[in-house]
Amino acid sequence: MIRWRSLSSRLIAYSIVGLALAFFTLPVAISIFLAALRLAVYPEVNLENWTTQRARYVVEAALRQERDGRKLVEPTEALRAYMSRNPEFRYAAIDVATGALLPGSSVELANAFSPLARVDLLAVSFHLADDPNPDARGWVRSIETKIGRITFILYGAHFHWDDVLYNLSYHFTIQNFFVYLPLAGVMALIAVLVVRRGLAPLRRAAERVARIGVNSLNERIPCAELPLEILPFVESVNNALARVDDSVSRQKRFLANAAHELRTPITILCAHIANPDEATFRQDVKRDARRIRTIVEQLLSVAHIEGQKDAIGKAADLGKTALSVILDYMPLAIQNGRTIELDCPPSPVNVRADPWALESVITNLIENAVRAEPAGGTVLVRVLPSATIEVIDHGQGVASEDRSAIFEPFWRKSDTMPGAGLGLAIAKELVDKLGGRIWVEETPGGGATFKLSLPPTNAIGSVAQVWTKPHSGIA
Ligand SMILES: Nc1ncnc2c1ncn2[C@@H]1O[C@H](COP(=O)(O)OP(=O)(O)OP(=O)(O)O)[C@@H](O)[C@H]1O
Ligand SMILES: [Mg+2]
Repeated sequence: MIRWRSLSSRLIAYSIVGLALAFFTLPVAISIFLAALRLAVYPEVNLENWTTQRARYVVEAALRQERDGRKLVEPTEALRAYMSRNPEFRYAAIDVATGALLPGSSVELANAFSPLARVDLLAVSFHLADDPNPDARGWVRSIETKIGRITFILYGAHFHWDDVLYNLSYHFTIQNFFVYLPLAGVMALIAVLVVRRGLAPLRRAAERVARIGVNSLNERIPCAELPLEILPFVESVNNALARVDDSVSRQKRFLANAAHELRTPITILCAHIANPDEATFRQDVKRDARRIRTIVEQLLSVAHIEGQKDAIGKAADLGKTALSVILDYMPLAIQNGRTIELDCPPSPVNVRADPWALESVITNLIENAVRAEPAGGTVLVRVLPSATIEVIDHGQGVASEDRSAIFEPFWRKSDTMPGAGLGLAIAKELVDKLGGRIWVEETPGGGATFKLSLPPTNAIGSVAQVWTKPHSGIA
C-alpha cells in the first residue's frame, strides 16, 4: 500500500506499462491507423492485406526441410484450421535459389506466375483474371525464412477481424521481450531521476515549513524554483500561513488592548478600595466593577463568536429582533430624553443568522445611536425587505476617515465617552461570520447611519408576526 503512495513507484509502473503497450502494439496500431486512412481516401481498398499477412505467417510456419535437403510445405494444425475457415484460400511457395515449387503448393497458382520465374517479386498484390469473385486478392512476396529465401504466393483468403489480433500477438516474441527489457529499465531509471529531482524543491520547502513557528508566522515558502504542478499547493499553504499570521496578530493585538483596557479600571478600583471612608465609596466601586464586567463580557462574546460554527445555519426575523431590542432600550432612552422609532415591513424579513448574534449586533448599534443622538431627538431603526437594517441617528456622525477604524477593537473617538470600543468590532466579527456586511454612512442632514445587511433566507419556518402596525414607529 505504502509503495503505491510513492510517486516514483507509480511513475515506474505507468512508464513500464505504457512502454510495453507502445512497444508491442504500436506497429499494429500504426498499421490499423494507416489502413483506416487508406480506406478513407480509397474506399475500394479492402482489408485483405491483414489477412494475407496472417496467411503468410501460417504458411511460413508450415515450411520444412527434410534431412536430405528437400524443402516442402507440410500443413500444420494452424494451416489446416486456417484453410477450413477460408475454403477459397490457396498458396504456393517457391524456393528462390532453385526456382523449384515446394511440394504441398497450389500448382495452378504457381503456374500463373511461371512466366515471371526470373523476376524476384518483392511485394506484389494481384487478382486472378478468371476469378469470378472481383474482390478476391492475392499477394506475392519473397522473404528470408528458416529454410532460405522463399517466394510466397497467397490467394483468396477472406478478412476476419481476429486477423488484426493475430498480427498483434505476433509481436509478443521472446526476442522482442529481450529488446523491451533494457528499454523498460531505462524508462524506470528516468522516472526515478525525474521524480527525485522534481520533488527536491518540495523537500526543501517542507524543511522550511517545519521551522515555522508561532513567532515566525510571517515566513513564506519561496515559489521561485518549484515545479509548476505543485505551485498551486504551495501558494495555498502560503495563503493559509498569511491568514493564520493575520489572525494571530489580531489576537495578540486584541489581548494587549484588553489587558491595557482592564488595567485602567482595576487601578482606579484599587485606588477606591484604598479609601473606603470616601463618601462616594460604594458608588465608585460599583461603577468600576460595572466597567470591568462590561469589558469581560465583551471579551467573552468574542470567545463565543469563535465557537459559533453553526451560527449561519439558523434563521432570525430582523423586524422581531429589532423590536425586542428597542423595547429593552426604550425606558433608558426615554429617561435620557430620546426616543426610538421602528419602521418595518408587514411581513417577516428572515435572514440567515443566529438570533443571539443578530440581537448582539443590533443592540450595540442602537446603544451607540442612542448615545450619539442629541437630547430630544429620535433614533430611527428601519428594516428593509432586502434583508437590511438601518440604525439612523442625528448626532456628530462618523468622519469619513474613521469609517473603517471604528470597527477595530478598542477604537474610540474620544475617551470622554463611556464604552470600551469593542461593540462594533464584535459586531463586525459576527457579521463577517454570518456572511453579511456592516458599514456606516452619513445621515442626510447630519448624523450616522449604520447599515447591516445579511444573507436572506427563504422562510425557514415563518417567524411569529409580532408587528401589527406596519410602517409605524414606537415613540
Ligand atoms: N452612532 C455613532 N455616532 C458617532 N460615533 C459613533 C457611533 N457609533 C460608534 N461611534 C464611534 O465608534 C466608537 C466605537 O464604537 P463601539 O461600539 O465599538 O465602542 P463603544 O460604543 O465606544 O464601546 P462598547 O460598545 O464596547 O461599549 C465609539 O466610541 C464612537 O466614537
Ligand atoms: Mg458600542
